[in-house]
Amino acid sequence: MFKRMQSMQMKALHCFQTVSPESHEYRAIIALHNTRLGPALGGCRCLHYDHEQSAFDDAMRLAQGMSYKAALANMAQGGGKAVILLPKGIALEDINREHLFTWFGRCVESLNGQYITAMDVGTQVNDMDIIARQTRHVASASNIGDPAQSTAQGVMAGIRAALDFNLGLCHSENVIDGKTFAIQGLGHVGWRVAKELLRQGGQVIAADPDEEKCWQGQALGMTIVDVQSILIQPCDVLVPCALGGVVHADNVMQLACKIVAGSANNQLAHDGIAEQLAQRGILYAPDYIINAGGLIFAAMQYAAGDDKVLLDSQIKEKIEGIYDTLNEIFQLAQIQDSNINAVANALALQRLQSGKPSRQNKGAVYDAA
Ligand code: NAI
Repeated sequence: MFKRMQSMQMKALHCFQTVSPESHEYRAIIALHNTRLGPALGGCRCLHYDHEQSAFDDAMRLAQGMSYKAALANMAQGGGKAVILLPKGIALEDINREHLFTWFGRCVESLNGQYITAMDVGTQVNDMDIIARQTRHVASASNIGDPAQSTAQGVMAGIRAALDFNLGLCHSENVIDGKTFAIQGLGHVGWRVAKELLRQGGQVIAADPDEEKCWQGQALGMTIVDVQSILIQPCDVLVPCALGGVVHADNVMQLACKIVAGSANNQLAHDGIAEQLAQRGILYAPDYIINAGGLIFAAMQYAAGDDKVLLDSQIKEKIEGIYDTLNEIFQLAQIQDSNINAVANALALQRLQSGKPSRQNKGAVYDAA
């Protein structure tokens, strides 16, 4: 474990356990990857894991991703992640969430603000509200709101940056108009992105296993296709907003888009896919940069506390900074004749090592408390 921590440059792993009044054993891991830029912020997953090791791997990999995301979003924020391991054989509905998240809130509080928790797979706003009664270090309780709108705003900024870059433009007007977009997933983020693209004159092709969402999309003018074919639709921009690992060795040669730019985490099955996309001339917007809007929203709301009067415009301006960050990465990759993911990772590491967020782009207007 220590070797793995060292190879990932992981700062600390905190392990907690308890037994509930129903005699269920709960375990939690809080992974702090890097706190040089500020306190670590990252969601809390609450899942059944087949093996303890998978839970540690998940926590560490996700915490590292959060460090990179925060560094390239120019946030004075570190990267962390929590996982709660649900006991084997206990159904979700049998879990005493009041007890579980009261306990987890105390675990977070015991780290004295080094880690700020938030919602993730398997946790809901109600759970965050329970945590908030034990600690103030929580960034997605109901008083803060849904980050999906901010994530969608960031995805729109990223799509514009990628289209402009491909056309040799910068901050052009109406670059969406007349372009075709294939959206995988009409959930919290995908639905908002799809509607905004339509509003700005884009043609939207979409797929979602949820028929109700597809009907609603069709009523607004989207072309609905089946989930198997969405990734290979001819389009200007493929917008993955559903699952991870969707671009892989078996489909990378079949993609019929010029750009891949969406919100889903870990869109590429592995780093080598970035190279294949580059060889095919497909521009890829690294997921942890383009989907940082939700993190920016949560971190700024958390830092502001109750003093939120001036914040909306500041948050929006900061999220718009995703355009400049991506533009910078695209240009660097072109100059260095290197793949975009590698350039992004190197820049993130450089910022983490320097311990300072960049002050260069207009998004850099914020310092977390
Ligand atoms: P969501 O759960 O609301 O939406 C996902 C949608 O994808 C659902 O409508 C689901 O039916 C659909 N879907 C599932 N399998 C599919 C398939 N094979 N083909 C097409 N559609 C499929 O999730 P949300 O919040 O919209 O997030 C989307 C992605 O963006 C996730 O990967 C998430 O991790 C990532 N993300 C979300 C953020 C947020 O603020 N919500 C922030 C950063 C990343």
